[in-house]
Amino acid sequence: MPRVITITSGKGGVGKTSISLNLALELASANQRVCLFDADLGLANINILTGIQPENDLESVIDGSLELSEIVIKNYQGIDIIPGSSGVERMADLTQEEAKRLIRSFLGLGEYDYFIFDTSAGISSQVLSFCMASHEILLVITPEPTSLTDAYSLLKVLSRKGYNRTVNVVVNQVTQSSSAKKAYGQLRETVNRFLSIKLSPLGIVARDKHVPMAVIAQTPFLKLFPDSPGSRCIQLLGRKLLAREKNMEPISLEQFWHRCLGFLSKGRPAAGAKRKHHEVTRPKTTEAVAGQKPDITVMLQRIETKISMLMDEMKQIRKIVAHQENQTEDTPAPPGEVELDFEAWFSKNRG
Ligand SMILES: Nc1ncnc2c1ncn2[C@@H]1O[C@H](COP(=O)(O)OP(=O)(O)O)[C@@H](O)[C@H]1O
Ligand SMILES: [Mg+2]
Repeated sequence: MPRVITITSGKGGVGKTSISLNLALELASANQRVCLFDADLGLANINILTGIQPENDLESVIDGSLELSEIVIKNYQGIDIIPGSSGVERMADLTQEEAKRLIRSFLGLGEYDYFIFDTSAGISSQVLSFCMASHEILLVITPEPTSLTDAYSLLKVLSRKGYNRTVNVVVNQVTQSSSAKKAYGQLRETVNRFLSIKLSPLGIVARDKHVPMAVIAQTPFLKLFPDSPGSRCIQLLGRKLLAREKNMEPISLEQFWHRCLGFLSKGRPAAGAKRKHHEVTRPKTTEAVAGQKPDITVMLQRIETKISMLMDEMKQIRKIVAHQENQTEDTPAPPGEVELDFEAWFSKNRG
């Protein structure tokens, strides 16, 4: 049974694709069989980072014109890559027959130890479904305030959907350990206070000039600059991921896909339920549904409670933003001085 990990962030440009690809390669170099699912619809996706231009993508598999084994990029530096592309959008709109066929072809692909999803920015139903269905989420943030607020928005939606497992956090583009620690601390504080989700720090990735240099060379930085700070961080992340208790529910890959496509189909409007633009849906209170007259005082109390909770949450988010904006611009640390292991940093600096 593979360990299914979704790499996500809320905000674009924080380093999901860079981390997904290089982490996948690192796990492969530790003798793990890895399949990387490119579900990023953005521009700087895995094609750009690897220089691979796939002729076909998942859409051809959904159409039934090709088998999954015909579109998968086999053994790119030791990993297999599924080009999702436009097929990822189609996944939200499959007929039962298409869903069955797709699941069958995923299962027929081969045995893997790791299945890694690189997702798009934002909170689309696809991103949420991959997050909800996978064993683990790896949330990428940077010390920037907008990355933290977007990450929080994503976690909030997941929490509302009932997600209550631990989310692993990686802080990317780190120039100083202190800013990584602060960013993580602020996010954890807000999440602990308002959501049912728990966060766990997995590590950091230093801001490293070799990362964009490798993009230009269309070769993963782990392979091109194995001794660079960025690569050393990825190696540490890989080791931690392998060492960390798997913490996964005993669900098979088949159950995963059923769950994932189930979440996706739940998110789409029911057949025949298309609304005209001018139609407005009014939320019905339970009282209204039961045909009883709603109690205005109770309703007002509920609204008041909700508003005060939201105000509290806004205050907390404002604190994060103000705190980050007040920080002086980090001066990049020389590569050797970048603290690579921020869990170790935590224990060293505790108390
Ligand atoms: N640790 C890093 N150091 C320097 N540049 C980075 C780092 N991580 C990502 N980048 C750069 O940031 C940009 C966005 O990264 P990418 O992985 O495409 O983000 P995402 O997938 O979240 O949109 C790329 O140009 C990439 O080279
Ligand atoms: Mg990306």
